[in-house]
Amino acid sequence: MSERLRLRLPTEHDAEFVQDMYSRVEVTQFIGAHDWVETTAEEALNRIQRYRERLGRGTGVWLIETVDTASPVGFILMKPIPFSAHVKGQPEEDIEIGWHLHPEAWGSGYAAEAAELLVAHARRAGHPRLVAVTNSENIASQKVATRLGMSHQGLSERYYGTTCELFILDLRS
Ligand SMILES: CC(C)(COP(=O)(O)OP(=O)(O)OC[C@H]1O[C@@H](n2cnc3c(N)ncnc32)[C@H](O)[C@@H]1OP(=O)(O)O)[C@@H](O)C(=O)NCCC(=O)NCCS
Repeated sequence: MSERLRLRLPTEHDAEFVQDMYSRVEVTQFIGAHDWVETTAEEALNRIQRYRERLGRGTGVWLIETVDTASPVGFILMKPIPFSAHVKGQPEEDIEIGWHLHPEAWGSGYAAEAAELLVAHARRAGHPRLVAVTNSENIASQKVATRLGMSHQGLSERYYGTTCELFILDLRS
């Protein structure tokens, strides 16, 4: 828990929030390589189920809620990131950190504050480093990564079979 935020697993009671958030193009436009939105309650429930199943040792997708009113504001995630097909012979997987916030919660610094909680969790789990990838046009997300102290590596084709801005946080130092 931080000053303003708490992380927890999402439940079916969050379906309305999830449905509202992922039905918005401004939320989904930089998530994934293809255009998509999810507009139905069924899709929201399936997404919640997938997020819950992501929970592992030092990995998972957590709902971010405010401490004062227990209102959901978005999701924060930490998970193994898929390498592009041309990347061969990796000694170990890389762990990605990511953030999805509801537009009504944008502009309050919540993403970086929630991400700090996950960075602490990543250190405890023994991850050597975290990576974040963003679309070049997603300036808000790049600013969150920078605020976290991640170092900008420029454009990379290393992950997801596409070209992204790559940010790395070394956790060994
Ligand atoms: C990325 C995201 C989590 C950022 O949330 P946020 O609440 O806007 O973050 P903050 O309020 O901390 O703002 C981050 C910075 O970006 C700036 N910013 C926000 N929108 C911007 C825009 N469209 N263009 C340029 N800068 C922008 C803010 O001014 C702030 O700058 P600062 O660090 O100098 O103060 C949010 O935009 C989001 O959920 N987007 C949709 C999902 C998404 O794209 N996730 C990331 C996938 S890689």
